[in-house]
Amino acid sequence: MVIGTVALSGCTQEDENKIIIGTSADFPPFEYKASNQTIIGFDIDLIKKILTDQGYTVEVQDIGFDSLIPSLQTGKIDVIAAAMTITDARLQEVDFSDPYYDANQAVLVKVGVPINITNIEDLKNYTVGAQTGSTGWAWVNDTLVATGKLSSDNFKSYDLYTDAVADLIIGPERVGAIVIDSPVAQAFAEKGNVKIALDIITNENYGFAVKKGNTELLAQINEGLTAVKATTYWDDLIEEYFAS
Ligand code: ARG
Repeated sequence: MVIGTVALSGCTQEDENKIIIGTSADFPPFEYKASNQTIIGFDIDLIKKILTDQGYTVEVQDIGFDSLIPSLQTGKIDVIAAAMTITDARLQEVDFSDPYYDANQAVLVKVGVPINITNIEDLKNYTVGAQTGSTGWAWVNDTLVATGKLSSDNFKSYDLYTDAVADLIIGPERVGAIVIDSPVAQAFAEKGNVKIALDIITNENYGFAVKKGNTELLAQINEGLTAVKATTYWDDLIEEYFAS
């Protein structure tokens, strides 16, 4: 049975026409759960549009952020759509699409508690949280913990950023500050309980990741991304998820 292999051989699933998208749905507005538990967001809508336009059917799986790359490597999923920053270390393990969004890091704190963070040195006085495996986590580890500025006892790793923010809202006895991507910090801040205390310029670019060597799917994603960007679908998506 070889029908379909020419046009749609990018996926590793039994059904050649089906692509499994892996994400970590704790990261608004890029990927999160709507009140009915459906996974939505900028990344999810964008990758679904790109792939369905090319004739694929798609399924979204919510997987811990730190397990996304291993899941891609073992073929459990075909593409990562998780606001994943293109880094040199990750490029050793996966292939990335063209960049589709830019971000920095930000420090999120609870509104109304006496927290005085005006520069990164001040973080040493608080418990600092970040998502395991994220670039925010790596920033805290490399910039603060490895340099002795923050004790490792005061560095808290979370599987989910939504849990980190829930702890932040409980109060500084749980966690005093979270390092998280700037657009996501903004989205959490808009709900009112937390605010951005500091911006950390890291100049990150998000890409969709595929298994190393899956050049066919990668080309399809890049072509689709270029095509979508040229339509009003792109503007509508930006408007839907980033206009506040
Ligand atoms: N951009 C950061 C990174 O690549 C954080 C991404 C976290 N994404 C998520 N869906 N939780 O490490």
